[in-house]
Amino acid sequence: MCLGGGNPAVYSMNVITIDNLHFRWQDQPRDLLHIPHFSLAKGEKAFLKGPSGSGKSSLLSLLTGISEPQSGEITLLGTQVTGMKPAQRDHFRADNLGYIFQMFNLLPYLSVVDNVLLPCRFSRQRRQSIQGDIADEAKRLLDALHLPTSCLTRPVTQLSIGQQQRVAAARALIGKPPLLIADEPTSALDHDNREAFIELLMHECDNAETSLLFVSHDHTLERLFDRSVDLTQLNQAVQEAV
Ligand SMILES: Nc1ncnc2c1ncn2[C@@H]1O[C@H](COP(=O)(O)OP(=O)(O)O)[C@@H](O)[C@H]1O
Ligand SMILES: [Mg+2]
Repeated sequence: MCLGGGNPAVYSMNVITIDNLHFRWQDQPRDLLHIPHFSLAKGEKAFLKGPSGSGKSSLLSLLTGISEPQSGEITLLGTQVTGMKPAQRDHFRADNLGYIFQMFNLLPYLSVVDNVLLPCRFSRQRRQSIQGDIADEAKRLLDALHLPTSCLTRPVTQLSIGQQQRVAAARALIGKPPLLIADEPTSALDHDNREAFIELLMHECDNAETSLLFVSHDHTLERLFDRSVDLTQLNQAVQEAV
């Protein structure tokens, strides 16, 4: 794997570096995103805001390697991920990225604990960063995120949205990934619950030394974060298209 740019030491302080990124969805006439530069420093907790349809989820799909940009570079943890072969990218993602999906994407045929342990199946690095029993660590995280113990034996389909969200967060955090990305995970919760959940999530990020990129259209949450980034400001494609 190659290091991004001319100075690896500079990049290694960032968990995310984006340079001159251009992206359009197939069959679209023009770019949805043109991001000249963006970075997230190690340990930073950033809030990425933007109205619905502004391209937040599209940007996350580029960061996670689900989509590929037409041009530009994405460097994660000092490793340039743009241009990686798919298998290499999947491996890198499993080792280094925790992801909370908007709809949580829990697997209905797995128990709560097995859902949380899923990343450990795909990544030896995540498994090995856990000291002791991995199921105990899953339960510790679920407890730290305030999932009631009675939920552990229930099918995930019977959990409330708030409870599913805690399971999804524990799954993203297991094995201490250096980067956690969350795509509007609180949009179904009321305001007090949103803030309480974000505080628990941040506490666990601090424990694991995990940097956080949290995406939401609800700008009332931005004061909880180290930094707030407005995608409509960051993205030059919209202005170019006008
Ligand atoms: N898989 C896709 N294929 C084509 N266009 C898409 C796809 N996903 C999203 N888009 C389009 O990209 C734009 C931005 O969407 P999205 O990234 O989901 O915004 P946000 O997450 O900010 O609501 C929208 O116009 C949407 O229709
Ligand atoms: Mg979205």
